[in-house]
Amino acid sequence: MSLDERMRAAALLERERIARELHDSLAQVLGVAHLRLHALAARPSVRADEPAHREVLDLAELCHEAYADVREAILALRESTNPDRTLLEHLRAYVATFSRTSGVPTSLVVHTGAEPCLAPCAEIQVVRIIQEALTNVRKHSGASGATVTVRALPHQVECTVADDGVGFEPADALSGDGFGLTSMRERAEAAGGGLHVDSAPGRGTRVTVRVPGRGVAASAHPAEATA
Ligand SMILES: Nc1ncnc2c1ncn2[C@@H]1O[C@H](COP(=O)(O)OP(=O)(O)O)[C@@H](O)[C@H]1O
Ligand SMILES: [Mg+2]
Repeated sequence: MSLDERMRAAALLERERIARELHDSLAQVLGVAHLRLHALAARPSVRADEPAHREVLDLAELCHEAYADVREAILALRESTNPDRTLLEHLRAYVATFSRTSGVPTSLVVHTGAEPCLAPCAEIQVVRIIQEALTNVRKHSGASGATVTVRALPHQVECTVADDGVGFEPADALSGDGFGLTSMRERAEAAGGGLHVDSAPGRGTRVTVRVPGRGVAASAHPAEATA
């Protein structure tokens, strides 16, 4: 095994370990806390105290949202630990699960004639960027649908995540304390590419990542469209 392969194998093992730990600790605690807070809210003494009742329900909802975040992070870690999967296989699996569990119907549209050819490290970065962009769609957009598109450009592969939700002002978001957009940009740059965020209030959001690579442009129709 080359040094590169050994480092990659070690990174995959580490991801698997983090996913397991998140599942066994944080996810379990949040799930239990959510249930217990609901039980607490149902007690007559708590129901009788309206501000306390509302506070407990708010806390239960916070735990529920954090639980959904952790579950999605675990899924994202697990989905990107299989080194035998190609980019399209990763995306197909993730988009299908996301569409089923997030409440936002999401489809994958592939405009390349064949599997795009990226460096393995770029491939993982692209998968993680798309996962992060989809998490934002679920958490912030209120969209009725989203589409992930893969397209071959000369010397580059382009992936976009587009939603028809509330949109936002990208300049404001980048100066906020959100970590997601910044880490997406860093990942794109680490893969030798770049990230573009196109959004405005009321106009939905489109996140585009382009990285060096080869794809075969599709001849006529999109190769695939999954719900
Ligand atoms: N698809 C989207 N639709 C609407 N707003 C979004 C979307 N993506 C990001 N945002 C806005 O940009 C902010 C920053 O996103 P991000 O950096 O991922 O941080 P976080 O998700 O932790 O808030 C979000 O809080 C949200 O206001
Ligand atoms: Mg985010």
